[in-house]
Amino acid sequence: MTDDAPRIVVFGDVIDDIIVTPNGSIRPDTDTPSNIVRRGGGSAANTATWLAHLGVPVDFVGRVGVLDLERHSRVLREAAVRPMLAADHVLPTGTIVILVDGDTRSMLTERGANAALDPDSVSDAILDGASALHFTGYSLFDRTDTAGFSKLIKRARSRGVHVSVDPGSAGFIADFGSARFLDAIAGADMLFPNLDEGRQLTGFDDPREVATRLAKKFPVVALTMGAAGIIVASRGEVIELGVEQARTVDPTGAGDAFCAGFLSEWIVSRDPRAAAQAGSRLASRAVTVVGGRPTA
Ligand SMILES: Nc1ncnc2c1ncn2[C@@H]1O[C@H](COP(=O)(O)OP(=O)(O)OP(=O)(O)O)[C@@H](O)[C@H]1O
Ligand SMILES: [Mg+2]
Repeated sequence: MTDDAPRIVVFGDVIDDIIVTPNGSIRPDTDTPSNIVRRGGGSAANTATWLAHLGVPVDFVGRVGVLDLERHSRVLREAAVRPMLAADHVLPTGTIVILVDGDTRSMLTERGANAALDPDSVSDAILDGASALHFTGYSLFDRTDTAGFSKLIKRARSRGVHVSVDPGSAGFIADFGSARFLDAIAGADMLFPNLDEGRQLTGFDDPREVATRLAKKFPVVALTMGAAGIIVASRGEVIELGVEQARTVDPTGAGDAFCAGFLSEWIVSRDPRAAAQAGSRLASRAVTVVGGRPTA
């Protein structure tokens, strides 16, 4: 990494993933021996670690419970991400307990300190000289006032920083309101929805139609459809890309890795097709590893 290499700022969720696999069925009111694995997660933090894995200089702005500040900062640093974590003295670090029951996974989620992460914590000084700013819908969903996000997008763009958004969750967009969500992120340059999110945001079913509609609002749209491919719509052009089938071990974080791969190419070539191909290459690696971050 050199000091003048294009730098990316990622803003958003950092989570402790706790994956619980009971040995047999859960016995109520008494102990059930289980295999319990802890991992760093959070959609935005995962994207930051994939970017760093590709050698891109990356600043990560997030928020954790005060007791975890050192631990999460160290984990990110070890992944070559520059952590800029705020310590919350009231709320705990966001946590997801993933309860594995055969093929069923139940996610029990507490957003914790992530809910108090303010877009103003991305300072002008961090944005100065950056190539891109990336954040996800999760950072918006808890907020009643989204003006800070409009301001953040304006502050970035006025410095020539390209802004990308991963909507993150079709269910949360439905709760939040699609029109309200689109309003809050108006002015972003790039949108990376999966198909469910794209459908929720547009009210259309056909993937090509979904991508085309969103491209009227955002200059670059990459609609990801899992193993079924990607549709890139940008400035009147629509490109359909297949993906190389990977043997899926754990699909967690495929979308996060896609964003990282896309951005790593975008900041160099500004070519949406090449960027989507780079996103797809990285995501197909992500599905072959357990957890949402690269293994060293
Ligand atoms: N089985 C697979 N084989 C190869 N690539 C895959 C597979 N599943 C997903 N991908 C890649 O990952 C990208 C993102 O996947 P997907 O559309 O499922 O995103 P997502 O639903 O946002 O994922 P996530 O659950 O991680 O948020 C796809 O565009 C594709 O490139
Ligand atoms: Mg996703």
